[in-house]
Amino acid sequence: VKDSTGRTLLITQSGGKLTALDATCTHMACTVAPDGSKLQCPCHGSQYQLTGAVIQGPAPAALHNVAVKVTSGQVVLA
Ligand code: FES
Repeated sequence: VKDSTGRTLLITQSGGKLTALDATCTHMACTVAPDGSKLQCPCHGSQYQLTGAVIQGPAPAALHNVAVKVTSGQVVLA
């Protein structure tokens, strides 16, 4: 999903807890996408866990977490 600033966010849910990650790759800012149980960057092959942690570079750092909450059945920025 896109937020109000045009950022692409990846929303995951685990045990009723929502986690939102900024899909911007920490390497050179391509947009990562879900690929099975991991997140894949199409540009240079970085892979991330669903938590945002790096599995495989060249990404130098984890994806950024974005604080969200559910209000009236909608996910909104916290
Ligand atoms: Fe994602 Fe390079 S921009 S791996």
